[in-house]
Amino acid sequence: MKSTIHDRLSDLPLGEVRYFDQIDSTNEEAKRWLEQETPTRALVVADEQTAGRGRSGRRWFTPKNSALAFSLILSDFSKDATPTPAWATSLGALAVCQAMEDLYNLPATIKWPNDVLVFDRKICGILSEAFWVGDSLEAIILGLGINVAPASIPEQTDPLLPAACIDDCLSMQQPSKTISADRWQILHAVLSYILSWQERLSASELMHAWENRLAYRDKWVQAYTEVNAAGVLTDKKTKEGKVMGLAIDGSLILIDGLGSIFHLKSGEIRLRPVEENQ
Ligand code: BTN
Repeated sequence: MKSTIHDRLSDLPLGEVRYFDQIDSTNEEAKRWLEQETPTRALVVADEQTAGRGRSGRRWFTPKNSALAFSLILSDFSKDATPTPAWATSLGALAVCQAMEDLYNLPATIKWPNDVLVFDRKICGILSEAFWVGDSLEAIILGLGINVAPASIPEQTDPLLPAACIDDCLSMQQPSKTISADRWQILHAVLSYILSWQERLSASELMHAWENRLAYRDKWVQAYTEVNAAGVLTDKKTKEGKVMGLAIDGSLILIDGLGSIFHLKSGEIRLRPVEENQ
């Protein structure tokens, strides 16, 4: 497997690639790597994660042979792009959408701030983390988890945002065919988009492309922005509003029932169960 991945990615402008059959978390491994040195465009890929991490302290399920779990270390920031974890998340989400469209003609959208949806189901989650040395931002770890085969879907998923995998989406699109998506082809396509966006785009161009794929536009959503003492998002709904678009700083623009516009800079949104009653 290791040599296959190295061969499959050899034409990309990547730094060192480290592959693991099993690891706790590719983001954790990237951090351990950064504690030793600062590699550029280095990649950690694993077939299976035993302690995969999601946002807000959640677990991320990555059983073997069925999913993609990888972390890209970005440290060669171009001058016209703002190096923040939110920016990296946008880069990752957009790249996954484009890969889905290119490879499979699947319509993919981005649920602010970090989930990729196909047919309104989550196929990918992104966890970007900053690595600081003192006051200086050394690198951003861009971690992506993509559900490819049915075994990658966890038993319990959020009923308001069910998980799906690429194989199931392909079956929905073409019921007469059984297609098994090629994980390494997807990895190649996603990385290739991430690397090319990173090269040539300013933050505003990236946000524009991202906004064109925004999920839930004109729909009513509930905002969850409150974090507890451990910095973990709570289940307390803080506001409701209709999704209007994306601001240049990456915050989500909403309009509430009284017609007031507000921005969400962080947190999560969920589709409001009963829509359009305001
Ligand atoms: C989320 O939707 O909550 C984000 C999930 C991010 C999962 C990926 S899998 C690769 C990388 N390693 C981790 O431990 N997490 C990210």
